[in-house]
Amino acid sequence: MGPLEVVSLAIWIMLPAYLPNNVAVLVGGGRPIDGGRTVRGARLLGDGKTWRGTIGGIAAGIVVAIVLSSLAPTVTDATGVTVPTFSALATVSLPTGALLGDIGGSFIKRRLGHQRGSAVPGLDQYDLVVGSLGLTALVAWGWLVAVVTVWILLAILVLTPALHLATNVIAYLLGLKDVPW
Ligand code: CTP
Ligand code: MG
Repeated sequence: MGPLEVVSLAIWIMLPAYLPNNVAVLVGGGRPIDGGRTVRGARLLGDGKTWRGTIGGIAAGIVVAIVLSSLAPTVTDATGVTVPTFSALATVSLPTGALLGDIGGSFIKRRLGHQRGSAVPGLDQYDLVVGSLGLTALVAWGWLVAVVTVWILLAILVLTPALHLATNVIAYLLGLKDVPW
């Protein structure tokens, strides 16, 4: 497998995990998940984690996984790269795990005293990777090991921070986010 193939597969596999965060930015707002609750003076999660963003993001990720699965045979024929379909469990676990990871990241940020929207390099980029692949490992291990090779995992770890930065800069330029991270 060549590098281009590895990178393409990494993006294909992670699209249902990447998209929920971006959709959450678009549809987020309204009631925060933590309902305003605080622990030792700091918000449990903060106003950046809302029900609408979470549910909308997960729904979008599920839709994209279903669409990619339906396109897989055509893409495989057209490109010669065998792109995988998403099992039913992976279809749900990738987006759900991504936003659970993101929520876990905010929980950790608040405990460390970081305000909403502050940048914590590493945590901000990898919380969704740990969440999406972690939950998928728990519920769809067979699917995960069949499609994510060591090289694809390495590509995911290298690409994610770059894609995260790129999409956040775009969201910032579009006025969707207050800070470009
Ligand atoms: N968002 C949401 N629900 C989520 C995740 C994100 O509504 N589960 C929306 C919020 O409007 C949030 C924006 O997407 O402000 C950007 O998400 P993110 O960068 O994860 O949140 P931050 O506001 O930066 O807050 P934190 O410091 O907790 O990461
Ligand atoms: Mg943020």
